[in-house]
Amino acid sequence: MLTLNGVCKTFNAGTINEKRALVNVDLHLEAGDFVTVIGGNGAGKSTLMNMIAGVYPIDAGTITLDGLNISRLSEPARAKYLGRVFQDPMMGTAADMQIIENLAMAKRRGKTRTLAWGVTRSEKDEYAERLRELGLGLEK
Ligand SMILES: Nc1ncnc2c1ncn2[C@@H]1O[C@H](COP(=O)(O)OP(=O)(O)O)[C@@H](O)[C@H]1O
Ligand SMILES: [Mg+2]
Repeated sequence: MLTLNGVCKTFNAGTINEKRALVNVDLHLEAGDFVTVIGGNGAGKSTLMNMIAGVYPIDAGTITLDGLNISRLSEPARAKYLGRVFQDPMMGTAADMQIIENLAMAKRRGKTRTLAWGVTRSEKDEYAERLRELGLGLEK
């Protein structure tokens, strides 16, 4: 469960460029919910995502994930608890690694990684299966 309570974010506070991007945002999502946020350019959609991911600190309010208050955690510390895809796909992937290596990295999110990690046969099959669903031929 993800809960936002009274989340506020103002950019460039106190200057001529002040922008109140989020004002007292409340949001509650249950496990398995699928939500689309719509709004015009500059409405604050990306800011909302960035607040949840910890890209910028929030000014006020709390963000709770599965009962854990993540409001003050850094972006890397939060990455253990949440995954995301970026508007620019190059931001969330390593372009000079193979698809299978990117998937293996994603699967190991939050786990301790050592230098010696290998992709098992059953893992390969699992990725191929998941990729086949996209109908893009990526499994090949
Ligand atoms: N890093 C930033 N510095 C200053 N202003 C920002 C920053 N990020 C977003 N804003 C401002 O906050 C408002 C919301 O932007 P944004 O969340 O990107 O909107 P959306 O994704 O809905 O188009 C806009 O007015 C935008 O100019
Ligand atoms: Mg945006």
